[in-house]
Amino acid sequence: MKKHIFSASLLMSVLALAACGSDEAASGGESGDGVQEMTIKFSHVVAENTPKHQGALAMKEYIETESDGAIEVEIYPNSSLFGDQDEYQNLASNNVQFIAPDLTKFVGNNPQFNVPALPFMFETDEQAIEFWDGEKGQEILGSLEGDGVLGLSMWPNGGKHITNNERPIDSPDDFQGLKFRTQGGQVLEEIYSAMGAGSESIPFGELYTALDQGVVEGQENTFSNIESKKFDEVQEYMTIMNHTRVDYAVFTNTEFWESMNDATKEIVQAGLDEGTAVAREEAITLNEEALELIRERGLVEIVELTPEQIEEFRTALEPIYDEFEEQIGADVYEAAREAAGQ
Ligand code: LMR
Repeated sequence: MKKHIFSASLLMSVLALAACGSDEAASGGESGDGVQEMTIKFSHVVAENTPKHQGALAMKEYIETESDGAIEVEIYPNSSLFGDQDEYQNLASNNVQFIAPDLTKFVGNNPQFNVPALPFMFETDEQAIEFWDGEKGQEILGSLEGDGVLGLSMWPNGGKHITNNERPIDSPDDFQGLKFRTQGGQVLEEIYSAMGAGSESIPFGELYTALDQGVVEGQENTFSNIESKKFDEVQEYMTIMNHTRVDYAVFTNTEFWESMNDATKEIVQAGLDEGTAVAREEAITLNEEALELIRERGLVEIVELTPEQIEEFRTALEPIYDEFEEQIGADVYEAAREAAGQ
């Protein structure tokens, strides 16, 4: 009996939330220019001084200005509205209209989202952008259609680097016996297991505490995420690796997207393009500045690998490509290698 009451009330609140989300996204009225009056929510998990938040801000400014205030864009950073665990479901229910998760967080829906985790595939943002803007990348971004979710535009963050609080890491053997937090997914898991380490997927919003409390000894992330979330306060060593990447795409709810009339969609699409340009431009600078700040704070000992040491990691992780070829696809590998100039 109790269980039924709980399920009924849970269902009521989910329905109420969903209804409230769609009501807010399109509130009914129109401005003199035929632009629909609405409030759009953009939710993400990172801090404000990051490429993702800067892109979202540029999008907000453009849309609000060009619509003369008919469209309001609310940005929720730092998992303040939804976190890694619930942002996707809430996008599918139209409780939020835009999210921009790290693409590896979608590997449960489609293993091809493992591309940013392929070891040493892309050296630069430019190469990653070329892949995701290309035919295969677009196909993968479009693969969530069945959930009512539309992948719109890739936003880069950058290469990931290793931090830990046990020892300086400069060879695959140094990983032995340590446990690392990952964004999730089979490839990242395999990277650690190939080097004798364990891994655990933990939501970004819980990572600082997990590192502080020793749930895991280390993690991998971009300089901008490490600096803005102050992971260096709870880590002792950082190895500059650039072995995997954090890349995002902006996703929207298909029903919301299609509910916009032409005048409204034109502004929102142009706002998204503006956000994409800013996120792509800012990513490199923000990561460079973050590395400088981490150096200045001096809380982690920084290991910079020689080309020979990087080669050692490359060799240790090379078998991962064969292991995942069937799941990810030889065609995806080929397109990624082409974008990477390999
Ligand atoms: C992480 O979970 O470490 C990052 O992917 C978070 C983000 O959105 O950059």
